[in-house]
Amino acid sequence: MMMMSVNVVLLLLLVAVVVIGSSTQHAAAAAPTAACPCQDASLCKPIQGQRPEIFGFTAQYWRQFNFSLATTIAWSDDPDLVCHAHAHGVRVVLQQYMDIGVPADKIVLGLPWYGYDYPCLNGGNASARYCEIKRVPFRGAPCSDAAGTERGYGDLWQVIHNSSAPTTPVMYDDLLVSKYFNYRHTDGTLHQVVWFDDPSTLQQKFALAKTMGLRGVGVWNFDLLDYSTNDPRVHAATRDMWNAFNAFLQP
Ligand SMILES: *[C@@H]1O[C@H](CO)[C@@H](O)[C@H](O)[C@H]1NC(C)=O
Ligand SMILES: *[C@@H]1O[C@H](CO)[C@@H](O)[C@H](O)[C@H]1NC(C)=O
Ligand SMILES: *[C@@H]1O[C@H](CO)[C@@H](O)[C@H](O)[C@H]1NC(C)=O
Repeated sequence: MMMMSVNVVLLLLLVAVVVIGSSTQHAAAAAPTAACPCQDASLCKPIQGQRPEIFGFTAQYWRQFNFSLATTIAWSDDPDLVCHAHAHGVRVVLQQYMDIGVPADKIVLGLPWYGYDYPCLNGGNASARYCEIKRVPFRGAPCSDAAGTERGYGDLWQVIHNSSAPTTPVMYDDLLVSKYFNYRHTDGTLHQVVWFDDPSTLQQKFALAKTMGLRGVGVWNFDLLDYSTNDPRVHAATRDMWNAFNAFLQP
């Protein structure tokens, strides 16, 4: 269980809980200063009234977001829950935000369109579910995203569907509601691509956001899928990621 505890603490930024001050503030925070890129310019105006929202980020525009209006680190008094993406942790932290008086309709749950590739310490243990990784505090929080490398879902999909790739099959952790696989790096160390989300795990977490009455859901980031492909399987994989939002949007 020690191993598990270590790993759970280190799941940095797979969950991003974004607290929005108001729709006006949100618009001020999120709107790129460039002209509205949509054909329908009203789509760039602040959202009026209550309706479910999808918050999208792209790598190109992220510098224009005002992050003082949002936090991407889930707050919690429980040191084992400071940074996490798993379904239990998401539920606990969302409840804690509500307990300190943040209304559900001002909370947006952000989830990843990427996975994290972590080298295991001490060569790793291929038969263990969790591996210990280097501790690299993130702005004081006991998280270690810097110990790993981000890998976009589009890239991960290629690895998962490459029968020559030297990986374990994709496994599902039903406690964390996340997918993972391991592989042996050419330098001999065991790597875990820990806790990436796919359409099925995203649907479950989006459904949780809906059940809790949150204002919206979001993903970091829209650029991480393959939109240029002619391969119908990749095209379907990209479409399935977008369709996962229906778990939040459908009445
Ligand atoms: C970001 O938002 C904060 C809080 O509203 C504000 O004080 C600050 O000036 C904003 N920063 C920018 C660059 O707009
Ligand atoms: C590797 O993990 C398995 C399963 O958790 C455990 O039984 C075994 O003792 C571990 N081996 C080492 C060397 O830690
Ligand atoms: C599949 O994996 C093998 C072995 O790692 C690699 O050489 C090959 O380039 C991969 N194929 C694709 C399409 O990525």
